Amino acid sequence: MSNPKYLVEMNDISVEFPGVKALDGVHFNAIPGEVHVLLGENGAGKSTIMKVLAGVNTNYTGTIIWKGEEIVAKSVEEQRERGVGIIFQELNLLDNLTVAENMFLGRQPLTKSGNIDWKKMNADARKLLDDIHSDIDEKIQVSKLTVGQKQMVEIAKSMSYHCDILIMDEPTSALTEKEVNALFELIHRLTAEGVAIVYISHRLAEIKQIGDRVTIFRDGKYVDTLNLKEITIDQMVALMVGREMTNYYPKVDVEPGEVLLEVKNFKQNATLKDVSFYARAGEITGFYGLMGAGRTELMRAVFGADPIDSGEVFVKGQKTVIKSPEQAVKQGIALLTEDRKQQGLILEFDLNQNISLPNLSTAMTKFGLNHKKETDNNQKLADSMRVKTPSLMQKAKNLSGGNQQKVVICKWLNTNSDIVIFDEPTRGIDVGAKAEIYSIMNELKEDGKAVIMVSSELAECMGVSDRIYVMHEGEITGLIERDQMKDVTEELVVGYATAATTMN
Ligand SMILES: Nc1ncnc2c1ncn2[C@@H]1O[C@H](COP(=O)(O)OP(=O)(O)OP(=O)(O)O)[C@@H](O)[C@H]1O
Ligand SMILES: [Mg+2]
Repeated sequence: MSNPKYLVEMNDISVEFPGVKALDGVHFNAIPGEVHVLLGENGAGKSTIMKVLAGVNTNYTGTIIWKGEEIVAKSVEEQRERGVGIIFQELNLLDNLTVAENMFLGRQPLTKSGNIDWKKMNADARKLLDDIHSDIDEKIQVSKLTVGQKQMVEIAKSMSYHCDILIMDEPTSALTEKEVNALFELIHRLTAEGVAIVYISHRLAEIKQIGDRVTIFRDGKYVDTLNLKEITIDQMVALMVGREMTNYYPKVDVEPGEVLLEVKNFKQNATLKDVSFYARAGEITGFYGLMGAGRTELMRAVFGADPIDSGEVFVKGQKTVIKSPEQAVKQGIALLTEDRKQQGLILEFDLNQNISLPNLSTAMTKFGLNHKKETDNNQKLADSMRVKTPSLMQKAKNLSGGNQQKVVICKWLNTNSDIVIFDEPTRGIDVGAKAEIYSIMNELKEDGKAVIMVSSELAECMGVSDRIYVMHEGEITGLIERDQMKDVTEELVVGYATAATTMN
């Protein structure tokens, strides 16, 4: 039955969790030296099938043929031994250890006297990082790294195990362009050596660029396996969502109202150099820039999460001082963070508790929590975002990555704020859900709220925003006004973002 050209064949794989049929008789196979993309909406089962292959989800049914022989994937150690490497979607590093310690956790090299051989461990870590062209310091604490850097550490770590197949579950969702290029170079090197790569991503253009074949799942079911050369992005999307999508960026026309938020001369040591901007009611104000341009830092400073050295904030024309997120929430500001795991959700809490979080203090003072009303309201929010879960009693950690992101959005919509800041709201989110998020932004806009969107995706930023500020190295280097939006070119915006073009 088995075809000798395959490194691995997975047939009729099903996985069930309480209340969720995550996979329903799906197939997947891999050929040595190929990049095999796994595509599907949030919750389609992509991470689940790869966790079966990696020996994490052992509660599966179906058959796995590895190098021509039927096997049972019983444990992570056994699968790693066989040659299965995986970089998980949710990163698994320990914050208070160094990069090198994390890379060699549980298998540190020892000296003759049985102590940890720090010198060798650090040198080995350095070599692995150099191999992927990363200049991250191997001796630095992981807590000091950005999400993108943590991802690079995970990648370097996975390189230290020899593998025949390397699974990358959304490796680029937080990488800078330079890091993405280094990763692609690495993928080419590995495939040339005959390693099969499984590549999971929601970035469709990137998939076309790096992938050889694509397998598509929809709602836990197998759809098809195709050569990427033979299909277009629109065809991929149609197979994935089960319908044609024509308008990726629906726009609504609203007459802008008053300025709800104005920031003047924000300075924060090296990160923000004299930044001023405003956001109006009934408008989506976009912030474009490359990763590291200072947009997240700016929004965190506005929200009182990080201190500034100097500068002023006006909310609805009133000068205010915001020194903490609590004060920001009181002023009617919400911030949807980019890093859902660190700042967005409490993974051990259920969805109901997570969605209620920002409101808890106010709800408590009013004669205790009104549970029924709270839950009904949360359910409505979750339904409007089409969060895929059997119930709101599910723990956040059991949701797929993209569905966790949707819960973060529910949580902040729950605060009913007038100024809503979205930091990379669609990172790791499938095209169908992206459109839902845009329509929620549009609704907020129609309700007269000021929406601010930080985005690194140029098409999204240009497609959704009414005005765009462009940042580069902690400064606003470009501004596209409302009446200029229809004539603006990608080249101009990118020019501002790289400081190749300056405003006159
Ligand atoms: N440990 C678990 N307990 C309960 N349900 C789970 C668990 N792990 C996954 N699920 C559910 O199984 C389904 C498939 O999840 P999976 O993580 O495979 O999706 P995905 O395709 O990787 O999505 P995304 O693009 O959002 O990462 C989802 O409905 C998810 O909530
Ligand atoms: Mg996933």
